[in-house]
Amino acid sequence: SQNVYILGIESSCDDTSAAILCNDRVLSNVVASQKIHEQYGGVVPELASRAHQQNIVPVIDQAIKQAGITKEDLTAIAFTRGPGLMGSLLVGTSFAKSLALALDIPLIDVNHMQAHILAHFIDEEGFDKPEFPFLALTISGGHTQVVKVTNHFDMEIIGETIDDAVGEAFDKSAKILGLPYPGGPLVDKYAQLGNPKAFPFTKPRVDGLNFSFSGLKTGILYFVQKQLKENPNFIEENLHDVCASIQYTIINILIDKLKKASKETGIKSIAIGGGVSANSGIRKALKEGEFKYGWKTFVPKFEYTTDNAAMIGIVGYLKYLQQDFTDMSIVAKARIKF
Ligand code: KG4
Ligand code: ZN
Repeated sequence: SQNVYILGIESSCDDTSAAILCNDRVLSNVVASQKIHEQYGGVVPELASRAHQQNIVPVIDQAIKQAGITKEDLTAIAFTRGPGLMGSLLVGTSFAKSLALALDIPLIDVNHMQAHILAHFIDEEGFDKPEFPFLALTISGGHTQVVKVTNHFDMEIIGETIDDAVGEAFDKSAKILGLPYPGGPLVDKYAQLGNPKAFPFTKPRVDGLNFSFSGLKTGILYFVQKQLKENPNFIEENLHDVCASIQYTIINILIDKLKKASKETGIKSIAIGGGVSANSGIRKALKEGEFKYGWKTFVPKFEYTTDNAAMIGIVGYLKYLQQDFTDMSIVAKARIKF
């Protein structure tokens, strides 16, 4: 059969990304991360949409060039419809529509959260694709979900955060410690040098498979403020231990819920995605789960775990196989479930 060339476009948050896939293989995956937000300690929506507007054409041009094709070779265009920041989504959505119209090729709308999960189906040497059914843990600065995945497009959210995302928990804790945004990777780095049991932080009590991280953040804030009153150098003197303790608590929360989800569903295959899956502690805990609980765990190649367009492209390909296209009346949506 003929090769299918998909252009994937992602613009839901603060990364402008374009990718070209030939069937389920990635030919290029260009990501322009927006540095502008660092100074504000978080993503500023208005600035994000402006940066997408500036980045989108060069990013798509570069993706096409790196893939060694021309835009006339494209079979279809897939774009992130949501969930995400409305102003950011509008840039990718409008661009995808215009280009599909100009090239007269099919347009495919993609759910960003589904894409984080289906990124596992990119054909990549050294990475296995999970078999159905499996549990997906999506953890990033914007999301925290446990999803039961029965088939490519048959997914059910069985647990999610009721307040902050897990990445926010890392970033906000880091901010309390005076670390720059996004602090997650730094907490991870220092945690590896510290004692995870040095400071016991209270885990939230949340029913079922849902998560809560806002209480933890407040707990850390009060704890650090109290310590600073007694010792103004508390943070510098204890940075490694504090980071290790924060990370240990967060990972315990995630693993506890995964254990519960696995027990309730009887599913032992677990696939993770999202920027926080880079965390060394979560990776270690998952590997331990293989020995302790008989899990089989899947971690995709790092560039496909953070926000990227290759994951949008793979969903585009899977939907293309089903001839599941959308028309020009499609609009971006800030909040959507599966
Ligand atoms: O998926 P992502 O790039 O963007 C979205 O938020 O959608 O995830 C970014 C998040 C940030 O909160 C960042 O601090 C966190 O992932 N992160 C980490 C690590 N690397 C990235 N958190 C903990 N440990 C890490 N090694
Ligand atoms: Zn994401």
